Amino acid sequence: MKLLFLLSIFFLLSCSVQNNTTFETTSVRGKQLTFARNKGNCLACHVIEDGEFPGNIGPPLKEIRKQFNSKQQLRQQIWDATLFNPDTSMPPFGKNKILTEQEIDEIVDYIWHL
Ligand code: HEC
Repeated sequence: MKLLFLLSIFFLLSCSVQNNTTFETTSVRGKQLTFARNKGNCLACHVIEDGEFPGNIGPPLKEIRKQFNSKQQLRQQIWDATLFNPDTSMPPFGKNKILTEQEIDEIVDYIWHL
């Protein structure tokens, strides 16, 4: 019984340590994926804080929470921008499998806090 108790404490501790690292790596990786020329390449079209040599085909990405009601809606814009504008020049990153589900989640986490 005592052993079980110790084991569950250990399990809970390891969970919380793991969650902390996940949070940090997510935001750092989200930024890397957003900026990487062979991944999101969002800088090709958007001005983003800290980003070098941005293009201006799309609007600057800042104060995102004023444009989108929820993270889910922001995710849809990145997943398939044609949902909001059928003539958009923004690539449908999710629908066309340019990025994986997880990569999109990480980018959404980063963009949401701009
Ligand atoms: C080829 C150019 C291009 C690329 C690359 C691109 N976008 Fe866009 N994006 C646009 C355009 C143009 C718009 C303006 C709305 C429209 O025309 O659909 C837009 C709109 C947006 C919006 C809505 C902004 C607002 O204020 O309403 C978000 C958020 C966004 N893009 C995020 C991204 C992210 C994140 C990436 C990278 C994963 C990305 N975009 C890559 C062209 C691009």
